[in-house]
Amino acid sequence: MVNIWIVLRLLLVVVGLMSSVVESIGVNWGTMATHQLPPNVVVQMLKDNGINKVKLFDAAQNTMNALAGSGIEVMVAIPNDQLLSMTNYKRAKQWVSRNVTRFNFNGGVNIKYVAVGNEPFLASYNNSFLNTTLPALQNIQNALNEAGLGDNIKATVPLNADVYNSPEGNPVPSAGRFRADINDLMTEMVQFLNRNNAPFTVNIYPFLSLYGNDAFPINYAFFDGGSTIPDNGVTYTNVFDANFDTLVSALKAVGLGNMPILVGEVGWPTDGDKNANVGYAQRFYTGLLQRLGAKQGTPLRPENIEVYLFGLIDEDAKSIAPGNFERHWGIFKYDGQPKFPMDLSGQNQNRYLVSAKKVDYLPQEWCVFNPNAKDLSRLGENINYACTFSDCTSLGYGSSCNNLDAQGNASYAFNMYYQAQSQAYESCHFEGLAMRTKQNISQGSCNFIIQIASSSYSLGPSLVTLLIVAVLAFFLV
Ligand SMILES: *[C@@H]1O[C@H](CO)[C@@H](O)[C@H](O)[C@H]1NC(C)=O
Ligand SMILES: *[C@@H]1O[C@H](CO)[C@@H](O)[C@H](O)[C@H]1NC(C)=O
Ligand SMILES: *[C@@H]1O[C@H](CO)[C@@H](O)[C@H](O)[C@H]1NC(C)=O
Ligand SMILES: *[C@@H]1O[C@H](CO)[C@@H](O)[C@H](O)[C@H]1NC(C)=O
Ligand SMILES: *[C@@H]1O[C@H](CO)[C@@H](O)[C@H](O)[C@H]1NC(C)=O
Repeated sequence: MVNIWIVLRLLLVVVGLMSSVVESIGVNWGTMATHQLPPNVVVQMLKDNGINKVKLFDAAQNTMNALAGSGIEVMVAIPNDQLLSMTNYKRAKQWVSRNVTRFNFNGGVNIKYVAVGNEPFLASYNNSFLNTTLPALQNIQNALNEAGLGDNIKATVPLNADVYNSPEGNPVPSAGRFRADINDLMTEMVQFLNRNNAPFTVNIYPFLSLYGNDAFPINYAFFDGGSTIPDNGVTYTNVFDANFDTLVSALKAVGLGNMPILVGEVGWPTDGDKNANVGYAQRFYTGLLQRLGAKQGTPLRPENIEVYLFGLIDEDAKSIAPGNFERHWGIFKYDGQPKFPMDLSGQNQNRYLVSAKKVDYLPQEWCVFNPNAKDLSRLGENINYACTFSDCTSLGYGSSCNNLDAQGNASYAFNMYYQAQSQAYESCHFEGLAMRTKQNISQGSCNFIIQIASSSYSLGPSLVTLLIVAVLAFFLV
């Protein structure tokens, strides 16, 4: 008898440990895709994978409806282009009433945070949001407080890691300070967060350290050793810890060394750059998840760290201004298939990500270069057109489809456009340079996709415009 009780108690402890580990992992659910998995399919996929925290980039109604009743903890968001309007308290109250209070009922959405802006102080935004972010944050938290929700729902600002740094002459975490040009603003912001018991949210990207700098010691981007940096008796073995502790030091310097920190985004892309591939992504995530699973934290914060992985699903319509890798951050492909085995527990539980269920695809039909085409003089322009309105980022240097021949390049571009247009008949013409085929011409690492059948929005000319153009062309010829 006694033995059974001991076994049962051990089991309870193990189950408790398991759930508490998964509890710390959240994911970023972005929706900048030409073809989106239906929100209820995504929510089921989250549940099937034991993911119970998501961070959104807006508060879109269909997403919120799908999350209702799921119990999943949600961070809703206010995009940067709405920060200015949120400096008006009345507008902020409307936003909270419409996008938070409305979902706050039994069986509603379990909102825990409101993200005010997204990396608004990024140097590349040229200070555009410098004057609006703090007032917007204050108004949203005050509106939450006024609605009686402030104890459970906190406003925070997901910030890029470039809001703090260490001096060039002493580039160690313990010397971390907020960026000199925004130090006063940052100080005021963290004081406000602190008064409301709200966390500091930061996005940390070891991949970007590597992307921006060929001299960066590559092993330092991962967690499995190789490079080390000494700092006051502490040895840093990876840039994630170093970056996180630079923030801890910056907070300490303004008297708030114990402020809770959320890692709003962390991840590794799988295509679109020479360092963006499945091998490196798997190496990064394996190391990250093992560290999180061990709850050992960083040298300055030796405790559990709460993180949101970036991201959940690839987004083929994201801006590629930062780089071609932008559309390939998903731990799942566009159709909800895991890219590689990932054990979110980080504890070798051999429980790997499972695919989305009930995903509908378009018919098995591809659009490819027509080998019988006679006049190739406008091939370049047609490829260009296809790639302007679809995602050709896998063709670039170091990417999964970079080894195609010229015809393969054309086929890839035509197919991406055809799929982006949901296989609309006229979208596989390209002045006679293209044809449809039922044959899968994927080769090696390069996958010629079939899109999912789903709610989509058109990136290119609408069907009607295409029809009018076709009719006009007919009469002109
Ligand atoms: C609620 O959020 C949605 C989606 O982000 C946004 O379009 C809308 O303007 C918000 N509602 C209000 C009243 O601000
Ligand atoms: C920031 O300034 C640069 C150079 O002046 C300009 O090219 C870029 O478009 C600006 N970006 C934004 C977001 O305003
Ligand atoms: C922010 O405010 C300062 C001081 O009032 C002003 O000089 C600056 O032009 C403003 N910046 C923006 C982007 O509006
Ligand atoms: C195919 O396209 C890629 C990306 O535009 C380019 O780098 C490569 O040289 C092209 N290959 C051929 C054979 O034209
Ligand atoms: C096409 O073939 C590739 C392998 O060459 C495979 O991974 C992919 O699933 C196939 N696509 C379809 C739609 O069957």
